[in-house]
Amino acid sequence: MTTIHPVNRMRASDCRLDDFVATLEPGHATYPHAARTESGVVIYDADAVRAVAVDPERRDDLRDELVSALLDGPGIVVFSGAFGASERLDDSTATFTAMVAEQRAAGDGGGDHFAAPGANDRIWNALQKLALRVPDLFADYYANDILALISEAWLGPMYQVTSAINVVNPGGQAQQPHRDYHLGFMSPDSAARFPAHTHRVSPALTLQGAIAQVDMPLESGPTMYLPYSQRYERGYLAFNLPEFRDYFAEHHVQLPLRAGDAVFFNPALFHAAGTNRSTSIRRMANLLQVSSAFGRAMESVDRSAMLRALYPTLAARLRTGDRRGVDNVIAAAAEGYAFPSNLDTDPPLVGMHGETQAELTHRALATGLDAADFAAQLSALDERHRA
Ligand SMILES: [Fe+2]
Repeated sequence: MTTIHPVNRMRASDCRLDDFVATLEPGHATYPHAARTESGVVIYDADAVRAVAVDPERRDDLRDELVSALLDGPGIVVFSGAFGASERLDDSTATFTAMVAEQRAAGDGGGDHFAAPGANDRIWNALQKLALRVPDLFADYYANDILALISEAWLGPMYQVTSAINVVNPGGQAQQPHRDYHLGFMSPDSAARFPAHTHRVSPALTLQGAIAQVDMPLESGPTMYLPYSQRYERGYLAFNLPEFRDYFAEHHVQLPLRAGDAVFFNPALFHAAGTNRSTSIRRMANLLQVSSAFGRAMESVDRSAMLRALYPTLAARLRTGDRRGVDNVIAAAAEGYAFPSNLDTDPPLVGMHGETQAELTHRALATGLDAADFAAQLSALDERHRA
């Protein structure tokens, strides 16, 4: 007797626009901590969320609500006023602007996935570059609790932050609708070779975010979204199909943002950057891609170098009593996961694994290790991990 197994493949030939449209039907969920919804997008007032998030029990409730919004809800949330004076938003914008200018002057401005070099400006691995260039600014910026809250809500602890600055200059053209990393960053043929259950897992491995570094009125072309489209399981094979592109063109929503607003969305949400029709707005966003401890981040980051640069400012910040801010900076900068490692040289002496970079940093700060000893221990940890 033969056993018939269920099909565990995704096929482009099974993509049906009617099925897709049916998944876009909003449910009846409510988001009690939200300030409002706009075009189906859940919008939070960042200060109100921050006030609630200091209470551990209510922080758990917030996390549950945010996961619902990203998983089964519209798939996108906005925190208005997430970054401001305490994060030194204006200083960060000035620094990124200077870095873009230097990159252009050096003639090595990077192209990106969607536009010819020159139409857009990119600073890849802006996380590391900012930490090495202005450590205290990095610390003020990434002490932000909204980023920590939603990252831990979607990905759990030990997440890995990466950042790329994207500047779309006047005249910069819209993107085609797409999904993001992982399965969104390969051809549909390649994506189709991955079994169906991995299409369901892919969105759990990253969180996509964007911080508006400048005001982004509609004419400047802020990102276009199709709420609820993350729920369509065949979406990684569908987003390039003409009828799906046409549907997106007609039904997307586009939200203007103020400088300091932060958008986070499920990487499976259909989205696309808009055309910058303004004559003078250089639309700058800090694009955050936060990876699960269990995923491979897109960019390699020298987190040891970042921690060496940040250590004095972390120690100073801890002396002011800002424990949560320090924890958030360490979470954004350090490797929080113990693997991959070299188990010959890094055996689990206590528990299941050797000390992580994040644990080392917390221990160093708690015991008052000086910067030179911290750097030496960090190098030794890196050496233990090397095969
Ligand atoms: Fe994208």
